[in-house]
Amino acid sequence: MLKSTLIKAAEAAGKLIQERINGKFSIEFKDGPNNLVTEVDKASEALIMDIIRKDFPDHYILSEEIGEVKMDSSYKWIIDPIDGTINFANGIPLCCVSIGIEKDGVMIMGAVNNPMLNEFFLTEKSQGAFLNGHRIQVSEQKQVKHSCLVTGFPYTYLDVPNGPLDVFSRLIREGVPVRRLGSAAIDLCWVAAGRFDGFYEHKLNAWDSAAGFLMVQEAGGIVTDFKGHEYSPYQPHIVATNGKIHDELLRWISNTHQ
Ligand code: IPD
Ligand code: CA
Ligand code: CA
Repeated sequence: MLKSTLIKAAEAAGKLIQERINGKFSIEFKDGPNNLVTEVDKASEALIMDIIRKDFPDHYILSEEIGEVKMDSSYKWIIDPIDGTINFANGIPLCCVSIGIEKDGVMIMGAVNNPMLNEFFLTEKSQGAFLNGHRIQVSEQKQVKHSCLVTGFPYTYLDVPNGPLDVFSRLIREGVPVRRLGSAAIDLCWVAAGRFDGFYEHKLNAWDSAAGFLMVQEAGGIVTDFKGHEYSPYQPHIVATNGKIHDELLRWISNTHQ
């Protein structure tokens, strides 16, 4: 039932996103002039929460717009009702709904649905990662210099050593292609599908990465923080790769690669 509820929620939210992407909707601003939320983010969240609550009224929920709905449960649903809101608000079809499920602090299932591209990614711990029902795998690339990477930038710029622009310019100066799609959940799924060899970002929240990081692991990749430690979605740094370029990409990020 857990998996069918997950699929039902991700499908319903995906349908809503697709119906409303080119329409009219109200917009509010969160912290910072470009961190916005649309009425569709909120409608998607309400729809997902209704579906979960119907089947699992006592499960814990963490969702981007509403925050934490604390319950005494070993299950926690982690929801991004629209990942890639700026894209959504501009009619750019690179946005999705992302839902992860944790049991006793371990991510056990995830779904990421981008209905505009008709791409439904689903993963379950120890069972693999799937795109529209077909198993996916990370790429075989072994060197960062020959990789195709993807990253994202936070809404509020982080002026820190080895910050987003430092790492970006380090890679770009060497001619390494680094894309920026604007949806961390899609970035992670595209690493899982072998389209990108690696993804890194400096400031994510748990709802951005919950489903996607399990997707990468289950597709044979590695996900860590910037120090190479086991990944937790409750800290900001992420490096997710095919595994083969992982240690080298960590060195590019910390500027110890030469
Ligand atoms: C954002 C996207 C973006 C990433 C930002 C996130 P949102 O999520 O995932 O790719 O660079 O850090 O906040 O705001 O569109 O849900
Ligand atoms: Ca997000
Ligand atoms: Ca969001």
